[in-house]
Amino acid sequence: MSLTEKATIARTTTNGHHQQHHRKMVISEEESPQQFALRIKNMVTNGLQALAISVAARHGVFEVMKSPKTSYEIAQEAGLKERYVRELLHSFVVSRIVEMNPDKNTYHIAPQHLPFLTGKHSLAGMTCLVPMLCEGYSQVNECFKIDGPSGVSYDQYPGFQEFMDHMSNMMHNQTLLSDFVPSVDGLEKRLESGISVLDIGCGRARAPLILAQRFPHSNFYGIDISVDAVATAQKEASRKGLKNTTFLVKDAASLPSEWSEKFDFVTAFDCIHDQAEPEAVLRESKRVLKSDGVFSMLELAVSSHPWKNIGNPRALDGYVISMFHCMPVSLYMEGKGLGTMWGKENILETLSQIGFRDVKVHKCKDMFNFHYVCRKEINEI
Ligand SMILES: C[S@@+](CC[C@H](N)C(=O)[O-])C[C@H]1O[C@@H](n2cnc3c(N)ncnc32)[C@H](O)[C@@H]1O
Repeated sequence: MSLTEKATIARTTTNGHHQQHHRKMVISEEESPQQFALRIKNMVTNGLQALAISVAARHGVFEVMKSPKTSYEIAQEAGLKERYVRELLHSFVVSRIVEMNPDKNTYHIAPQHLPFLTGKHSLAGMTCLVPMLCEGYSQVNECFKIDGPSGVSYDQYPGFQEFMDHMSNMMHNQTLLSDFVPSVDGLEKRLESGISVLDIGCGRARAPLILAQRFPHSNFYGIDISVDAVATAQKEASRKGLKNTTFLVKDAASLPSEWSEKFDFVTAFDCIHDQAEPEAVLRESKRVLKSDGVFSMLELAVSSHPWKNIGNPRALDGYVISMFHCMPVSLYMEGKGLGTMWGKENILETLSQIGFRDVKVHKCKDMFNFHYVCRKEINEI
């Protein structure tokens, strides 16, 4: 049964002020106290299962389980200790991720589940998010205290760039060429003929690397403040034999003055909300665009208002990821701390304040993001 009630909601604006709103809030289902208690217990169980899957993903356990095997065979093939592997497998047996034949003492993954746990599109690596966020757990707890630090530095998350690269690789391989590129009018043709592209906050540069391989007549620049990420991107470009990429360590809030009007297309994949100075980065992105240039930005497909996000599974992930990583890394640099859940309403307001024109919002096929496509000026491309 649906229950509609009047509620007072405290809204926090981007500059940290609170506004009181009287509005109708829909609480979707009436829930008994027992159901609520069970839901909390299940959250703990799900968190624990995610931790166990992350260990299996990290050590390639699922990859050696394409046929029924004993724990000894699995451990040997993965190069691990049998006792640990057996405990892990038993956690998977009770959570029905793995099936066990008690007569033969063998374990296997049901064939219909294999594509989700192994290979290029495996979802198992996503669970590494939980331990990666926990790298900053104690420090984030300190940040909550009135006299605690303002944020946590990127250095405190040594697994971050690798995890981000895993996620970007999975997402961009599925949708960059088939969904992202076609959603910008005329882009594919321009990339074919040869244009200059800049990716800001590129990390290990999965997106520019895929685009550079597909569009050899275009030139792709990527910049990031992470020395490690840029070095890894450069190595990957050499490994692929790409001659049309340049990866540089640079601050996106202060791009080289000689880059004014240098680029036809500027991209920002999942990085504006992390910035210490997001408005400065957006202004710089606009400055380095040619007058007929296009700016594309991917940000989580959520509203800026929590009550509008109820029932959106991305939103629950987003607030927690934000609290444990995106917000503290920005606040550490005395930044704005927008957080992952910046959201559509605030994004549209900011893009308009910066002076971007003709802003269009596409729901990405990846199910995670909105693609904001804007122009520097209103010209036909
Ligand atoms: C969430 S990651 C996204 C990485 C990449 N775009 C992707 O989708 O895989 C955000 C990136 O922004 C970078 N970053 C943060 N502040 C920056 C700044 N001021 N200038 C350039 N890069 C920055 C971080 O180092 C990090 O690699």
